[in-house]
Amino acid sequence: WSCRAVESERTLAMIKPDGLSGNYTERIKEVITESGFDIVKEAVVRLDAERASLFYVEHSGRSFFDSLVKYMTSGPVLVMVLERPDAILHWRALIGPTDARKAKTSHPNSIRAMCGLDSEKNCVHGSDSPQSAAREISFFFGDARSDAVEHDEL
Ligand code: PPS
Repeated sequence: WSCRAVESERTLAMIKPDGLSGNYTERIKEVITESGFDIVKEAVVRLDAERASLFYVEHSGRSFFDSLVKYMTSGPVLVMVLERPDAILHWRALIGPTDARKAKTSHPNSIRAMCGLDSEKNCVHGSDSPQSAAREISFFFGDARSDAVEHDEL
């Protein structure tokens, strides 16, 4: 018999401009808490082109990059650090596929099916690996282990 504590993990979740302007924040937060996550930090942030380009730097060669940066700077976003065991995989499963049109048919209960439109306006973001979670959390919040709930840059 062994009784090891299940290790919690953190991921970076973001409600994108269309999610915020479409008033989906409350519903998305309900899904988050009903799914066993703690929201350990949150901030409303307005990205400029330089910061958005840096956030998506791994996609800088892609055909959609300029359009993505323009969209991500079109309004404020809500960034959150979510915590629970297997947070990264769990949040990615909840949000569904990148293309919200596909989400509506293949993952009808996903968050992107609820509030996304296509591959660009897909309502939410989630880190895709422990490395990107660490990078993205410190991108917005600095030290990845501090627990203060922050509200800044409103
Ligand atoms: S892909 O096509 O599977 O590589 O896409 P993915 O790696 O999941 O997407 C990375 C982010 O790029 C955004 N994206 C797009 N933006 C605009 N137009 C098009 N066509 C497009 N395709 C993908 C997508 O929303 C992803 O953003 P995040 O925030 O990581 O979900």
